[in-house]
Amino acid sequence: MSQPQWGRTPSTAADRQPDTAAWAYMVRCGDGSLYSGWTSDLARRLKAHRTGRGARYTRMRGEGGVRLAYAQRCPDKSAALRREAALKQLPKAEKEALAAAWAASHRITIRMATPEDGPKVAALYNWYVTHSTATFQYQPSTDESYRENIAAVRRAAPFLLAETPDGTLQGFACAHPWHDRGAFAWDVETTVYCAPDCVGQGVGGRLYTVLLALLRRQGYCNALALVAHPNPDSEAMHRAMGFRKVGTEPRTGYKFGRWLDLQTWVLNLRPGTDAPAPVRLTVGEEELRGVLAELQGTQKSI
Ligand SMILES: CC(C)(COP(=O)(O)OP(=O)(O)OC[C@H]1O[C@@H](n2cnc3c(N)ncnc32)[C@H](O)[C@@H]1OP(=O)(O)O)[C@@H](O)C(=O)NCCC(=O)NCCS
Repeated sequence: MSQPQWGRTPSTAADRQPDTAAWAYMVRCGDGSLYSGWTSDLARRLKAHRTGRGARYTRMRGEGGVRLAYAQRCPDKSAALRREAALKQLPKAEKEALAAAWAASHRITIRMATPEDGPKVAALYNWYVTHSTATFQYQPSTDESYRENIAAVRRAAPFLLAETPDGTLQGFACAHPWHDRGAFAWDVETTVYCAPDCVGQGVGGRLYTVLLALLRRQGYCNALALVAHPNPDSEAMHRAMGFRKVGTEPRTGYKFGRWLDLQTWVLNLRPGTDAPAPVRLTVGEEELRGVLAELQGTQKSI
């Protein structure tokens, strides 16, 4: 299926690519109530609500978390304002029905990627190549290079996709060897990207939780992530996932007219000083199902 037209991304200089689209949305507050609003940047607005800077209503009732409950992309601001006004007029039962339908159509499943998924993964990643400093890459990757990338990753680690029931890609996470010399055999570099309109909705965290669980099962000992700075969302997510920032290399990358630092974040998957067993390179769909079942019902429920 074709990928949606994405709006602006957070964490980048706004308006590099003019986009008139806007969103009408509802968020569910910690007390269960729904708040309706509109925005030209869904991810940024959601973050504002989650951090108590969105609206008095969500600040007062947000304890326990604010989650996106419904979003409709509109062609422009006036259409979004009209839709917001209509949402505000709806009786509670109709708002709840809309939220339930939205949740059903946005329920994500996580599966292992195959090389045939290359084009859809490349489409998502290339959005960041052309709009964001989250990656230092200048030129978009080809579909073919992503087919090869997925095949290469799968020889030693998981390549996970999060999709909605209609097959729309919401995010991906993968890992590849940190270095090819023998002593690095237990170290992997991890990567995670969400579709621009899915940022801040739990997709990246869920993908990473599953990825790290699988890497642990394979016997990897250290997960390392290279994070461009500034990238507050990625830094916050790595911190939330238990990674420690162990270094910052200043002025390492130059993109979109400015210098960027590069941070190294590390998570010890298997602490201790015992000699490690060899890493098991194969990891498949069945093992993924096992991890997903284990995580069901836990705090990190997928
Ligand atoms: C970085 C990224 C993958 C994070 O995924 P996400 O779906 O936005 O993050 P989640 O909503 O799952 O949040 C995961 C955790 O990080 C925390 N978190 C995420 N963004 C945060 C922020 N801006 N401030 C504070 N905490 C934040 C969440 O609270 C959550 O912690 P919890 O599980 O304890 O509640 C996503 O923002 C993204 O794709 N960004 C653009 C691409 C990118 O930068 N990729 C990383 C390259 S290194």
